[in-house]
Amino acid sequence: MKGILLAGGSGTRLHPMTLAASKQLLPVYDKPMIYYPLSTLMLAGIRDIMIISTPDDLPQFRRLLGDGSEFGVRFTYREQPSPDGIAQAFLIAGDWLAGAPCALVLGDNLIFADHLGQLLQAAARRRQGATVFAYQVRDPERYGVVTFDESGRAVDLVEKPASPTSHWAVTGLYFYDSRVLDLAREIRPSARGELEITDLNRLYLQEGSLQVERLGRGCAWLDAGVPDALMQAGLFVQTIQSRQGMLVGSPSEVAFRMGFIDAAQLRATAARMHKTELGRMLHELAEGQHESPHAG
Ligand code: DAU
Repeated sequence: MKGILLAGGSGTRLHPMTLAASKQLLPVYDKPMIYYPLSTLMLAGIRDIMIISTPDDLPQFRRLLGDGSEFGVRFTYREQPSPDGIAQAFLIAGDWLAGAPCALVLGDNLIFADHLGQLLQAAARRRQGATVFAYQVRDPERYGVVTFDESGRAVDLVEKPASPTSHWAVTGLYFYDSRVLDLAREIRPSARGELEITDLNRLYLQEGSLQVERLGRGCAWLDAGVPDALMQAGLFVQTIQSRQGMLVGSPSEVAFRMGFIDAAQLRATAARMHKTELGRMLHELAEGQHESPHAG
């Protein structure tokens, strides 16, 4: 399975912070925002990753992330000339996908849960249909919303409904089978002129092959697209890391736990960051001083 990390858009809801810098490069506590969704893709076992961003911002992502060898993965970079919708990512990546199944994650989405690796790897193993994740929120009108029937089956999907019929938001992490490009080609721009990811998901829902996994109480999903959410995400990461001594959203940690890199490679990364707490935590991990049962 391949992975797409979509990190474009203009970040207008974070102006003036995003006037000169990409939203997905802003700090979430001690790491650039993009590290978190990147860690999520890697935790699913995905090593072939395309990063899509604006022509202006793409060089900065290249500078930050390089070819992926530091994390034992391969990065391919591609431009989205204008933000014409999330589902456009599949059209942009079409030739690179070459018929492979694909996961897509939005560059401002942060997911934290116990056993997340197992959940993601199960979604990545499904060869038929699509898998999305639903999370209960107080303000569903800001998101794609999924409604379930009494038996718990997903029956309806609407993008930013004015009067939501449920509190279940669809998170910005999606897994699709090898037909995703063909289905994305069927979508037409919405009233706001975008190729909507919700329209793609509805095609899978209509044919009965959309799996909706509900993320429960012990799980945090944050999208850092507005100042309050950005602050909350940073505080959340700081709280977990300083209280439990466990890293959140570190691609180096995930790479090591997944076996993408060995202890010597992790030690080298830690040495480059030796002046930071993050570097110290990675060093401890490389030396085997860090106890944590799960990656991520
Ligand atoms: O965060 C989850 C939500 O993401 C879902 O519940 C919604 O169904 C989905 O439409 C999306 O809603 P947003 O309002 O957050 O979408 P936004 O336009 O802000 O785009 C999300 C991210 O994707 C953002 O970081 C910018 C990037 N993006 C967006 C578009 C439309 C691109 O890189 N290119 C694009 O063309």
